[in-house]
Amino acid sequence: MAKPRSVFVCQQCGAQFPKWLGRCTDCGAWESLAEELAAPRGAAAAAARTSVALGVARNARPVPLSEVKPEQHQRASSGLGELDRVLGGGIVPGSVILLGGDPGIGKSTLGLQMLAELAHRGLRALYVSGEESPEQVKLRAERLGCGDSVYLLAETCLEDVLSQLDAFQAEVALIDSIQTLHSRELSSAAGSVGQVRECAAALVTQAKARARPTVLIGHVTKEGAIAGPRVLEHVVDCVLYFEGEQGGGLRLLRAVKNRFGPTNEVGVFEMQESGLKDVTNPSALLLAERPVDAAGSAVLPVIEGTRPLLVEVQALAARSNLAMPRRTTLGIDANRVAVLTAIIDRRAGQRLFERDLFVNVAGGVRVDEPAADLAVIAAIGSSATDVPLPRDLVLFGEVGLAGEVRAVRNPETRLREAVKLGFQRAIVPAATARQVHPVPGLAVTGVDSIAALWERLFASSDS
Ligand SMILES: Nc1ncnc2c1ncn2[C@@H]1O[C@H](COP(=O)(O)OP(=O)(O)OP(=O)(O)O)[C@@H](O)[C@H]1O
Ligand SMILES: [Mg+2]
Repeated sequence: MAKPRSVFVCQQCGAQFPKWLGRCTDCGAWESLAEELAAPRGAAAAAARTSVALGVARNARPVPLSEVKPEQHQRASSGLGELDRVLGGGIVPGSVILLGGDPGIGKSTLGLQMLAELAHRGLRALYVSGEESPEQVKLRAERLGCGDSVYLLAETCLEDVLSQLDAFQAEVALIDSIQTLHSRELSSAAGSVGQVRECAAALVTQAKARARPTVLIGHVTKEGAIAGPRVLEHVVDCVLYFEGEQGGGLRLLRAVKNRFGPTNEVGVFEMQESGLKDVTNPSALLLAERPVDAAGSAVLPVIEGTRPLLVEVQALAARSNLAMPRRTTLGIDANRVAVLTAIIDRRAGQRLFERDLFVNVAGGVRVDEPAADLAVIAAIGSSATDVPLPRDLVLFGEVGLAGEVRAVRNPETRLREAVKLGFQRAIVPAATARQVHPVPGLAVTGVDSIAALWERLFASSDS
């Protein structure tokens, strides 16, 4: 009988089984088995298999770090300023970038635009498409008006892709998507955990050996993980996450992990018919449609990575007919809003229990900073009291359970961004107001409690 070429390995405890089981009989974990290549007997055989298949130098020996020559560590520009920014200044040779995002968000578009730019500069760029036919890719390239020098390979078999990449002597590669690739060695379906990991590992090894930058496009699973339960994040150098609202044209590209640059950096793009365009002044775009003098709208300077961004927080406190009023949020944590609602109730005496409450961050941006507290509270207060906030006001600050307002990081960056966009007033934590250098053109007021905020903004209202 032929020896099975693959085994099923429990991802929790490492136990091996010849067949798939719903539950690991060793550690009891459910659905933890993934198919992997059966290791040939002996380490030598395993090493031979890996190095022959992947072209890695064998018999490596220890060398002093001082003797290691960084291969002219020159970053290549992707042609998209915002993408370079997220990558930490361009694409590093041999780096493997995982680009994840919801369906239809624009992953293929971004990948193609990047390849086109690199090909335009004379690099041999190969687009490996397992998802779309060459005609479909061509249609997109025509719409984007780029990509004539990009080569296309419609192939889903890992071994063929690897050999074609080498035969073509690709200098940069895009795999669209990693879930469509499958290795002949494994019997499980393309997209399964074992396949995804095997394919990614092989591509990563080859990319490193040839110093060939490679972009892997990965789909996001129901649970929000890229390409399966975190199997890819560890093997790649850089994980980029593409997000935004389908309807709106704004797209945010976040670096979740980056071995060659800072994480939490954010690139902002606008999706247009001719492709993704850099947005150099996102605050202006985010605030473009802000209703002025409408109750329930507050402007908040957030820090995304190193960049300040002005976003609009909207709240609507509507009369409720329900025994349990609704609390719905978009772009901000619902639990945080629940806490802030309780703080408003207790510390400002604003009753919200008979109101439905909706809080939304406009423009499809997600805000996770505690610095948002003050603006969220002001927006809710404004809607509940029907008093619009001054149109030239920004607010930021963390709010504690006692209703105290606490200082947050980078106050000056936030204030400068506000001035740039023409704001003239800022309400900030009292401690911050005492410390920051005066910003010309901006009147900064400090508040130390929610009661003080209410006094300042809604004193004239009697609700
Ligand atoms: N003619 C057009 N004008 C403007 N935007 C368009 C046009 N055609 C497509 N788009 C945008 O491009 C998006 C699809 O881009 P793309 O195919 O790159 O996404 P994707 O993330 O690769 O999707 P998938 O997950 O299906 O592979 C659409 O959701 C739409 O926003
Ligand atoms: Mg696609």
